Amino acid sequence: MCGIVGYIGENRASPMLISGIRRLEYRGYDSSGISIIENGKMLCEKSVGFISELEKKIHGKFNEGTIGIVHTRWATHGAPTIENAHPHTDCTGKISIVHNGIIENYNYLKMKLEKEGHIFSSETDSEVIAHLIESYFEGVLEDAVRAALKEIEGAYGLAIISLDDPGKLIAARRGSPLIVGIGEGEHYVASDVAAILEYTKEVVYLDDNEIAVLTKDNMRTTDINNVRITKRIDEVQWNLDKIEKGGYEHFMLKEIYEQPQSIRDAMLGRFEKESNLVHLGGLKDNEDDLRNIRRIIVVACGTSWHAGLIGEYMIESHLGIPVEVEYASEFRYRNPIIEAKTMVIAISQSGETADTLAAMHEARKKGALVLSICNVVGSSIARFADCGIFLHAGPEIGVASTKAFTSQIAVLSLLTLFLARIRGNEDLSNNDLAIKLKELPKQVRTILDNKDKIAEIAHLYKDSDNCLYLGRGYNYPVALEGALKLKEISYIHAEGYPAAEMKHGPIALIDKNMPVVVVATTDSVYSKILSNIEEVRARGGRVIAIASEGNSEISTLVDHVFYIPETIDALVPILSVIPLQLLAYHMAVMRGCDVDKPRNLAKSVTVE
Ligand code: AGP
Repeated sequence: MCGIVGYIGENRASPMLISGIRRLEYRGYDSSGISIIENGKMLCEKSVGFISELEKKIHGKFNEGTIGIVHTRWATHGAPTIENAHPHTDCTGKISIVHNGIIENYNYLKMKLEKEGHIFSSETDSEVIAHLIESYFEGVLEDAVRAALKEIEGAYGLAIISLDDPGKLIAARRGSPLIVGIGEGEHYVASDVAAILEYTKEVVYLDDNEIAVLTKDNMRTTDINNVRITKRIDEVQWNLDKIEKGGYEHFMLKEIYEQPQSIRDAMLGRFEKESNLVHLGGLKDNEDDLRNIRRIIVVACGTSWHAGLIGEYMIESHLGIPVEVEYASEFRYRNPIIEAKTMVIAISQSGETADTLAAMHEARKKGALVLSICNVVGSSIARFADCGIFLHAGPEIGVASTKAFTSQIAVLSLLTLFLARIRGNEDLSNNDLAIKLKELPKQVRTILDNKDKIAEIAHLYKDSDNCLYLGRGYNYPVALEGALKLKEISYIHAEGYPAAEMKHGPIALIDKNMPVVVVATTDSVYSKILSNIEEVRARGGRVIAIASEGNSEISTLVDHVFYIPETIDALVPILSVIPLQLLAYHMAVMRGCDVDKPRNLAKSVTVE
């Protein structure tokens, strides 16, 4: 949640800060603010709403300042108002901070500071940081920051500047991502690499409890006790065009259309030449442990959790290893039993989801091997894991996850094939899973070529108040995912159900106003789902079916059919989810919703 950018150098800070924070707007967009040191003053502007509002406010200002910080907010403590927007300052207005995360002991600290005479002007937890730094400030900003951070409990990604130590930009991290970008005679700070990619590809990923003191020419990294830490400089592999819309109306649509390529990229370099044997570089040092795994627990949230359910079906049926899939937020607090030889797989697009990261900590504490499936290189989850597999899907900017979901399933298929190889199940390596996986990019393309049909269906149902999604077997998680996509971007109430469960309650909702999307591909449970379609029809429900090519029978039973190419059951979700992504997208756009930035949501949920 929230986005942070900081700059120190020889150039005007404000253009860089604004272009950087615009790229992070998807992380939070209810208010924003900027602080710049200019002509011996700490200048600050804030606004409520999108960053364009802030831009209007600062138009013609900040023409000289070469050091500054900026923030886009997704409210956790206090409503989205000017007072609560970051940056926050101390009583003197000389120290300015921007913060991502949550300060858990802020109430205690606020009371203590108020007793000492500090005056607060917001309802946020973040403001205590500025006052706490003020209380320790004796001329050297980083010393005061270190002292303050020792008192803080909770999570933070911080960028700090001070008028009384004006040639420094301080960055500090605990539990909330932060990177430093290295330029020529300039340094950047950002909560996400997308913010600085236009300016530099050389980055340093800060770890928890690290502080970077940046001047325009120098970077000094220490721990909270001022012990020097040498950091590696990484080169970012993404290009700027990857994070721009490239002619599409929305990032979400662009990302839906990128799926043939992102699925291909997930496989790239992972199959042995001209064979179906899979090698995964990120797991090679852990092959011994992985060979002996007896139980797998998947922890994830939202769309990534849905991908985990598909992984459960796939790994259990192909490898016979028991798999459970848990909401990370539940797993972390319920004292789960972890026996020897248990592997915990954390799935996360962003790699920053707080609940998933905390579940990994719990798993590690209890002795599990922790494997991550992640899209963002350098993210907290990827770095915490014992081993991992990257999606290589490129940045996903739209808040609704699309290409990451299909890449997660592709990677879970690769993991299944990899485990089969190292556990001596060579048969599996030669079976349909590998062969059919390689066919997917082309098949996805044919679905996308047929998109108009989905737009027509969307037009007919765009004014619905409710929508039900049904699926069985591998398509049950797809029904969940279809419903999540629709509700999060169109605000239509939608529920996903295993089709047979409908008669245990939701069937009461069905009438002529209830569109029911049924994922009814020709698989091992096809005949069962036909009975469920009949149950809906008997109550006047309108049925939109996603069916396998060549199935003419189904068109006589339902109101609309969208056909997808045939593949094996385990891989159907990669194809069947695409029309559901498009359906949600078109319905939301037709209702006038901002699909890339749906209300109340943020791209990565870095708070509990
Ligand atoms: C999906 O469209 C979501 N916006 C959301 O459910 C997301 O999948 C969830 O927050 C988990 O995120 P992660 O994959 O980055 O961990």
